[in-house]
This record gives sequence, structure tokens and C-alpha cells, in this order.
Amino acid sequence: MPAEAILSKQRSYDAIIVGGGIIGLSCAWRTAQRGARVVVIDKARPPAGATRVAAGMLAPVGELTFGEPELLAMTIVAAELYPDFVAELEATTGVQTGYAQHGALHIALDRDEGEELRRVHDLQRSLGLDAEWLPPRRCRELEPGLTPSLNGGVHVPGEAAVDPRALTEALLSALAAKGVELRFGAAATEAVFEGERIAGVRTDAGEELRAASVVLASGAWSGQAEWLPSDARPEVRPVKGQILELRAGKEAPPCERIVSSERVYLVPRADGRLIVGATVEEQGFDTTVTAGGIHELLREAYRLVPDVAEMELVEAIAGLRPGTPDNLPLIGPSGIEGLIWATGHYRNGILLAPLTAERVAEMLTGVAV
Ligand code: GLY
Repeated sequence: MPAEAILSKQRSYDAIIVGGGIIGLSCAWRTAQRGARVVVIDKARPPAGATRVAAGMLAPVGELTFGEPELLAMTIVAAELYPDFVAELEATTGVQTGYAQHGALHIALDRDEGEELRRVHDLQRSLGLDAEWLPPRRCRELEPGLTPSLNGGVHVPGEAAVDPRALTEALLSALAAKGVELRFGAAATEAVFEGERIAGVRTDAGEELRAASVVLASGAWSGQAEWLPSDARPEVRPVKGQILELRAGKEAPPCERIVSSERVYLVPRADGRLIVGATVEEQGFDTTVTAGGIHELLREAYRLVPDVAEMELVEAIAGLRPGTPDNLPLIGPSGIEGLIWATGHYRNGILLAPLTAERVAEMLTGVAV
């Protein structure tokens, strides 16, 4: 392209965010609120990618894993930020996010699962987390739709859920109100450098976007960001998850709160839908919905809450989580001046969005909350 044509398509910002998932949009919102000029680019119109598939479970206590104290600390802080994050978004935009704090019940179906869940519960208690062990009868008082054949459960009253697709629409509305430019349908093809410092990106629409900072928020694709030099790409791999959406007929959904076992989780939505997730598969960039994956989810959902068998099957979909070697997200400087990573959130992208956004906005603008 002649130099004049490139110049005529050159635009300048304070920050370019590459990725329009919940992480990229949240970072854009918090950064724009601090007065920065921001553009978000993504090949797809959000909600897409992992955000479109995510159940939106905000359950740091129930998802607690041995040997991941740093991740637990982050997820607890993020869960505490959520009520204000969604309240501010909903008040600003009038768009509901589906946030509901109905708690979660994590179930052990048999004695082996019971022993494992008790170990997790001991850890929860030792960390001072609000979680109570309940015998089968108490579990069924809370959730009458549970199978009569269960060993016990852990009730975590503070756990919550949000609808990631609704949250995306709220964020898009908030971004439009803040004057953030949204370039959907555009892909980054090349990084622009000034010396050692990244100074922008070129897109497949023939534009050159210039900015003081570029944020890589491309989820599972971050490790394959070919527009970046290979040493600026993080070690992120895709981890496939298949998920189902069921809908209740005239009856209420068969559970009021998040209900999970070792192998499946059920997340009810206020409008009668029930999200059933999720497989965890190392299959590269494959997003095929498989008979085996759906069979496994339905079988385990049925073992937990038999009435799911009466529900309408609305959707089966697969997405790719951005996995990292230590399961921790990559939030911060990349090693290339001007390039910030906001990626690698693995199973916690929706939950960690408000925290990631605060951190990235502060790095980009120097303005703390
Ligand atoms: N956070 C649940 C999942 O990744 O399946």
C-alpha cells in the first residue's frame, strides 16, 4: 500500500486491546473510565469464543484445588469485586447481566467422592472460607431435585453466577457510551514497532492503529498471535470445554443454586435455562461437539438431578479455555515494552474479569481506583 494510503488509515489511541472477550471488554471499560482513548479489535462480534460458551460460575470456594493458593486468593478478591462491577454496569447501561448470588451446593454422590469432598472441605475451613458440610437430608432440603442417593455436600452460600452473554452486551453498551471504538471483523496482522517498543498494530482492514500500549487479550489464541514476534507470545494452550443449555418447560428449573459434583456442574439462569458443563479436553483448537462429550455431561447431570431428563435440550457448544502451565493467568508486562498481557485465565476468565480489568487499567493509565 502506498505511504499516503497507510497514513490516511492511521488512527491514534492511548491503548489498543486485541480481543473482545470478557477480559478485553472489561479492560477497555475500566481503562476508558480513567480517561484513556481505547480501541478494541476482534475478528468476531462478541459474545464469541470462550465467553460465548462459559457458564458464568463465580464459585472460587467450590472450585478450590489443592496447591493453588495464589489462584484462590485472586479468585476470592475477584468474587468480592463482582457485585459492584455488575451493579455499576447495570446502572450505567440499563442492561441486566444475570448476576445472582444464590450460593452453591457441591455434592459427593458416593463414599469415595465423600472422602475427597471432606478433604476439600477441611481445606476450605482451614482457610476460613464460608462453607458448611451437610448430610444428605440437609442437601435435599436445600435442593429437593437432587438424587436421593448421595453421600453429602458442601454448601457455599456466597457463590454466585452471571450470564456471560448478557454481561457482554452490558459491557458493549458501556463501551459505546464511553466512546470506545469497537472494530469487530478486523484481525491484527502485524505489530508496529518504534525501536524496541510496540507502537501499534496493522489490521487486515488495511488500517494502522497507533497507541502507547497494546493489550493482548486473545484468550486461547494468545499463544498463536502471529502478528507478534514469537518471543512476545505467551505460553497459552487451548483447553476444550463442551457445554449444554437446557430449558425447563412450565416447571421451575430443577435447582435454585449452582449444583455440582466431581464431574459436572449445573448453573440455573433466572429465565428457566440450566447450563450443564463442562468437559475438559486437550484437543488443540478443535471445537467439535461430540456425542461422547454430550453423553458424559447428560449422564452426570442426570445422576445428580434426575429431572434434567425432562428438560428441553436447547444448545450444545464447545469453546477453548486459555490454559497456562501453572493455571495462573498472565496479567502484566510481557517483556516487550508497551505490550501488556491479559490472558491465560483458564477456567476463571469470567470470574477474574473485574480484577484483571482493574489491574490492566491501572497499568495503562497509572490511575488506581
Ligand atoms: N469455570 C468452569 C469451566 O471452565 O468449566
